[in-house]
Amino acid sequence: MRCYQLPRTGAGIDALVQVELPDPKPAHRQVLVKVGACSLNFRDLLIIRGTYRAPVRENLVPLSDGAGEVVEVGSGVTRVKVGDRVAGCMFQRWFGGEAPAEAHKAALGGGIDGMLAEYAVLEEDGVVKIPTHLSLEEAATLPCAGVTVWNAMMEHAKLTVGQTVLLQGTGGVSIFGLQFAHAAGIQVIITSSSDEKLARAKALGADHCINYKTTSEWEKAVRAITDDHGVDHVVEVGGAATLARSFGAIRVGGKISVIGVLTGYATELDSALILARRVNVQGISGGSMQMFAAMARAIAWGAIKPVIDRVFAFSDVPAACRYMASGGHFGKIVIRVA
Ligand SMILES: NC(=O)c1ccc[n+]([C@@H]2O[C@H](COP(=O)([O-])OP(=O)(O)OC[C@H]3O[C@@H](n4cnc5c(N)ncnc54)[C@H](OP(=O)(O)O)[C@@H]3O)[C@@H](O)[C@H]2O)c1
Repeated sequence: MRCYQLPRTGAGIDALVQVELPDPKPAHRQVLVKVGACSLNFRDLLIIRGTYRAPVRENLVPLSDGAGEVVEVGSGVTRVKVGDRVAGCMFQRWFGGEAPAEAHKAALGGGIDGMLAEYAVLEEDGVVKIPTHLSLEEAATLPCAGVTVWNAMMEHAKLTVGQTVLLQGTGGVSIFGLQFAHAAGIQVIITSSSDEKLARAKALGADHCINYKTTSEWEKAVRAITDDHGVDHVVEVGGAATLARSFGAIRVGGKISVIGVLTGYATELDSALILARRVNVQGISGGSMQMFAAMARAIAWGAIKPVIDRVFAFSDVPAACRYMASGGHFGKIVIRVA
């Protein structure tokens, strides 16, 4: 089979090489998936650049996200059958409940080989059937960004109708957050560096839009929008440059899901920020297979279509990575495999 490999984490985009490997075989309770499409996540760039904080194997087949068709099942498989259309779960051994401490050791495109290949062997409990209204390209966008923001909004913050969430930027995580919030009657305040992207977010249902370049103290704008109350939930993807401002935007007793590091990891925080507003701060790392299945049901019910910015050919993976690094995208970047 054709696949890409990254010789070691930190090797950079130019080190990605296309290679031929023997077709893999599914073992007991595993399935073989013919991959139709993959999608990129900022995590994949962190791994390629060597700034990811979890184990990464050598000669890694990159990417956590992919979808395809089951073409063979190993012994003992009962959850899926040949012909089913499935997406892989980023964490192959996190069925439900709390994440196991060693979850990252079995993370696609990190601790273990990922989806950027013509075929992938996955655990039967590490796949989810995809909604019938989605193409494989659309379904390939779900596993990392979709499940993570679902976990943040529905499991951590337990948002309900009429509450307000703050989403940062218009990348994969935030645009899924916008779509889920819109479907669930949750008010959205979203930020972006681009007025044009904010107009697109508005068209998708965003209630309030703030340009974080022209309004650098955007947390004050959030407080003004919410009558100085603050938002119920912040989906924190910015990291170093946004975290302190997120405390300015949250309501007393609100929840901040710490997900991303788009602007770096380390920052200074005044603990009074947490104390004074009694903020619940939770690190979020992906989600379980059961969360993915719940999200897939919601996507099917709401006929939600993931927002794909561009689809690249399998031969153009380095260009796709550079495009993601440029930050020019809105929503998800997809790679067609089959
Ligand atoms: N913890 C987890 O399990 C998990 C899962 C998924 C993602 N993540 C993390 O979450 C972050 C987002 O991931 P992604 O895949 O959605 O990335 P992405 O698609 O590459 O999103 C990039 C977008 O983020 C926005 N952005 C950049 N700097 C910003 C800032 N200072 N303030 C607000 N927005 C800013 C920009 O939006 P505009 O162009 O609109 O300005 C940019 O286009 C990454 O750090 C990623 O590693 C973590």
